Amino acid sequence: MEKQIGLGIVGYGGFGEFTAQAYASMPQVRIVAITDVDAARRGSAAELYHARAYEDLTALLADPEVDIVAINTPPWLHASQAMAAAEAGKHIFLEKPLAVELDDADTLLVKLKERRVHLTIDYVLRHVPVYETLLKVTNSGLLGAVTYMRLENVASNEALHDQHWFWQRSRSGGIFIEHGVHFFDLCNQISGARPVHVSGAAHLGPNGRQDRVMAAVTYANGTLANFYHAFDRPAILEQTVLRVVLERGSIVVSGWIPDHLELEGTVPAEQRDQLESLLGVALTIRDIPAPVGITGATPGQLVQATLNRADRNADYVEAVTRGMADFVTQIQQPHYTPLVTLQDAYESFRLAFLAQRSIDDGCSLEIC
Ligand SMILES: NC(=O)c1ccc[n+]([C@@H]2O[C@H](COP(=O)([O-])OP(=O)(O)OC[C@H]3O[C@@H](n4cnc5c(N)ncnc54)[C@H](O)[C@@H]3O)[C@@H](O)[C@H]2O)c1
Repeated sequence: MEKQIGLGIVGYGGFGEFTAQAYASMPQVRIVAITDVDAARRGSAAELYHARAYEDLTALLADPEVDIVAINTPPWLHASQAMAAAEAGKHIFLEKPLAVELDDADTLLVKLKERRVHLTIDYVLRHVPVYETLLKVTNSGLLGAVTYMRLENVASNEALHDQHWFWQRSRSGGIFIEHGVHFFDLCNQISGARPVHVSGAAHLGPNGRQDRVMAAVTYANGTLANFYHAFDRPAILEQTVLRVVLERGSIVVSGWIPDHLELEGTVPAEQRDQLESLLGVALTIRDIPAPVGITGATPGQLVQATLNRADRNADYVEAVTRGMADFVTQIQQPHYTPLVTLQDAYESFRLAFLAQRSIDDGCSLEIC
């Protein structure tokens, strides 16, 4: 077995705790160091994982056993902490977003190249089974090209008190940068093309905060997409639905970490086995009579499939470990192409940044 990679955890808040638990189960890595400005939190985490607690990032970066720095601090710290880690020659597993300012992301990319260190963003959605299946099906072309995507992500604000960094634009970047990046990245992959145009809008909630945002995006290959996010309701009303429309069908995926997929479309008989094997479930075939009143209309067969996952939380944990495992492979094998490339991280961040700028400037933006 390859040598265990040493992990240094930076920021042990809600998500830091969740991810550390997942990393602790991985044979490829070992948590060797932890820093958090909260002394009690870093102390108890260090005790739990038999790791060293450091007062600050500089001290953690001086630890020679730290190979990867896993940054789980709030967004406004990401770019500067990643810069410091790169300067110290450490690889970086960064929670989203890459940065909150585009200039900082550009500077960081230059530094990564100069210091020859790897960075990836923890886009967990890329590693959850339902989205993996969705991507396999859309990439296969069995239902034709993707023509349109619509995301509706309505989320809870119950844990987001007025003073939370989430509502401070200088600290979070706003909903698109803090959270929407996940879906921009995912839909960039589904469309298979570069976003070329974005137009955003927002609703102002209590204390002037933007609690609902939406963006219309056009891709270079003509795919159109709408993204809507709202943090305005109790947790029991949370709902996330991504609808992907293709030339010969549609796929609807539900859940933030999705546990349900429904597919409907037309596929020639000789390609149905291939579709079934991508989905991992049997297709249902329905005979549809020709629609009444349309001259020349033909009858046909619709294929339908439903996919359910039993344990959404287990899929979330698995996605975190798979993201880290992929990054470890990238570090150990010089020619390996990771699932989430630096280019993917940059493109999705830039789209989020420009969606927010479009809201702020009140105009649509071309993306060069
Ligand atoms: N990929 C995902 O699915 C996912 C899910 C949730 C959160 N996140 C991301 O994780 C990050 C953290 O989110 P959270 O909800 O855990 O936030 P949080 O506020 O609960 O935790 C942040 C932690 O960072 C610590 N911290 C602050 N400044 C620090 C510094 N200078 N050095 C070291 N530690 C410092 C805080 O004390 C706190 O413990 C955010 O970027 C968020 O977007 C990602």
